[in-house]
Amino acid sequence: MAGAYDDRDGKIWMDGKLVDWRDANIHILTHALHYASSVFEGERCYSGKIFKGHEHSLRLIESARLLDMQSPYTAEEIDAAKEAVLNANGFKDAYVRAVMWRGSGEDMGVSAARNPVRMAVAAWEWGSYYGDAKWQGAKLDIAKWQRPSPMTIPTAAKAAGLYMICTMSKHAAEAKGCSDALFMDYRGYVAEATGANVFFVKDGEVHTPLADAFLNGITRQTIIQLLRDKGVTVHERHILPEEVSAFQECFLTGTAAEVTPVAQIGDDWHFQIGQVTRDIAADYETLVRA
Ligand SMILES: Cc1ncc(COP(=O)(O)O)c(C=O)c1O
Repeated sequence: MAGAYDDRDGKIWMDGKLVDWRDANIHILTHALHYASSVFEGERCYSGKIFKGHEHSLRLIESARLLDMQSPYTAEEIDAAKEAVLNANGFKDAYVRAVMWRGSGEDMGVSAARNPVRMAVAAWEWGSYYGDAKWQGAKLDIAKWQRPSPMTIPTAAKAAGLYMICTMSKHAAEAKGCSDALFMDYRGYVAEATGANVFFVKDGEVHTPLADAFLNGITRQTIIQLLRDKGVTVHERHILPEEVSAFQECFLTGTAAEVTPVAQIGDDWHFQIGQVTRDIAADYETLVRA
């Protein structure tokens, strides 16, 4: 299976049933397309089992709620939809994308409470998100945009609207030969990358930005727990850019990114792919396949 994402063989789950891949379409007057009323999940299935699939289903429902949308499905029904998609396509190792959005209906303006909330699940085979950087260390640009305040937009939601500046920042990064971009937040603290959380290592201890203005990734939470379980001290705190040059290792975490070492951020910050990063990447790999 390859080619454009709308032109493939297979099945997609849409509003309660499996449809042919090429027929999984929506109308041009879909509210989400005009007003970003859309939330989604990215999940990985390893050897036939979605890692923390139920937590992702719960987060999808919560993201919808934060955008004033009532999920038409329970978390168990969403779990079942994901299973159905994996089975229908015969995937054992795949990326799973669930999306929930406000559709077209009686309203076509900002207010759209009468329009139905709809949902789809697709899955595809997807390798390493950062390609070779997964092993060699990613190079990150510094985004010119900032992660916004939780008073500006619901930053705890995995919502389409929050990705507008991610796409622009990642395009700018790639144009400079970087794999991704690192954001500061609205206060100037180090925040996250465009689709992954960030960790730093100094003298055997781990430091990661406090998730008070960006997505508290399921992978991030898993990694913090794994580190603490093996006795590594983890500091969740506000990190200033001035501190970054003193860190020895850096890595990104996310469902797509898994654990990806970072070799360089901007022009000035360089990191080694050290033992803490290597060990936690191996621990995560073991856990997701357990
Ligand atoms: C902006 C952003 N931050 C962080 C993450 C990491 O989240 P998770 O570990 O739940 O995949 C993602 C990926 O979903 C993301 O898109």
